[in-house]
Amino acid sequence: MSLILGIETSCDETGVAIVRDGEHIVAHRVASQADLHRKYGGVFPEVAARQHVVTILPLIREVLEEAGTPLNDLDAIAVTRGPGLVGSLLVGVNVAKGLAWASQRPLVGVNHLEGHIYSNWVRPPDAPADWSPPPLPTLVLIVSGGHTELVIMEDHGMYRRLGGTLDDAAGEAFDKVARVLGLGYPGGPAIQRVAQQGDPTRFSFPSPRQPGFNFSFSGLKTAVLRQVQALERAAGVTTGMERKMIPVAEGVLDEQTTADLAASFQEAVVRGLVDATVEAVEAHGISHVCVCGGVAANLRLREEMKRRSPVPVSVPPLFLCLDNGVMIAAAGHYALQRGDVAGWDMDVDASLGLPTR
Ligand code: KG4
Ligand code: ZN
Repeated sequence: MSLILGIETSCDETGVAIVRDGEHIVAHRVASQADLHRKYGGVFPEVAARQHVVTILPLIREVLEEAGTPLNDLDAIAVTRGPGLVGSLLVGVNVAKGLAWASQRPLVGVNHLEGHIYSNWVRPPDAPADWSPPPLPTLVLIVSGGHTELVIMEDHGMYRRLGGTLDDAAGEAFDKVARVLGLGYPGGPAIQRVAQQGDPTRFSFPSPRQPGFNFSFSGLKTAVLRQVQALERAAGVTTGMERKMIPVAEGVLDEQTTADLAASFQEAVVRGLVDATVEAVEAHGISHVCVCGGVAANLRLREEMKRRSPVPVSVPPLFLCLDNGVMIAAAGHYALQRGDVAGWDMDVDASLGLPTR
């Protein structure tokens, strides 16, 4: 049996959890900073790091208390060491080192992307009795605010990269388009919400799919921008949007047009991601698909992936799609099993990639 404390501070959520055997959630908490960053229209790195400092120790205390687990009963302390914002990562890593040193427990450094992958290995609270973790090998689509990667996970810790984004990440595209449409931050949930009332066929936007299982979201984002500019011109308004992705002038888009733009954009993203995944399943004869990362919370993506995939699809419950400590503890469990224990000199790595071959 393993009992692991997972700590996640790579971006703007402070996540702390205790997970048993890489699968059972014993206790978990996430403190979101979304309200703090909203006025900046995105994550303000310095503010994020400072807020982690304020939040992290009370959160760890709450989780340990809820689990009824003294530090000395833990088998390891796992922490995200990258990729992410350097100041934010440093808070989590230094707190984890301090706790591990004080309690003489092993320290495990977790790759944030591997954390997202392992969110699919966590038993959902409402899982049916016959639930089991994904079989290996599996195809994995990672879609977050910072990354878009399609990999084959051959075994624990063994990944073969098929492709990924050539420019923006999928979540970044949601955030930027939401900003242009004046929907605020974070963009993904806002686009999904208004898209529910929209007509996804009204605007024809290009697919982000590129040759070789790659993606490009920059062209799609620009296509939405051009469409909004055209609507601004038709309304006789100029905002300077030609140069920057700034919010559309008030009164240019009526509610229905905003909803149609959001729905058409969301549909283009979902189509591109599902097309590539389904083709990769067929090309590589894979029998299972896992989707993970913040954009995996998108209901259209979840629905379309399950509808179109010729093989079973695992998607984490919504609360495990966004950054959290549970996925870090789960990934830490498998790293610990491999003997992957960090030294006291472990450093953060803001641009750490998935260890692929
Ligand atoms: O994984 P995550 O919490 O952080 C990173 O590792 O980047 O992902 C955050 C991203 C944001 O870009 C956010 O807009 C997007 O996930 N997101 C969504 C949805 N919920 C969050 N995108 C589309 N639909 C959603 N429902
Ligand atoms: Zn993430």
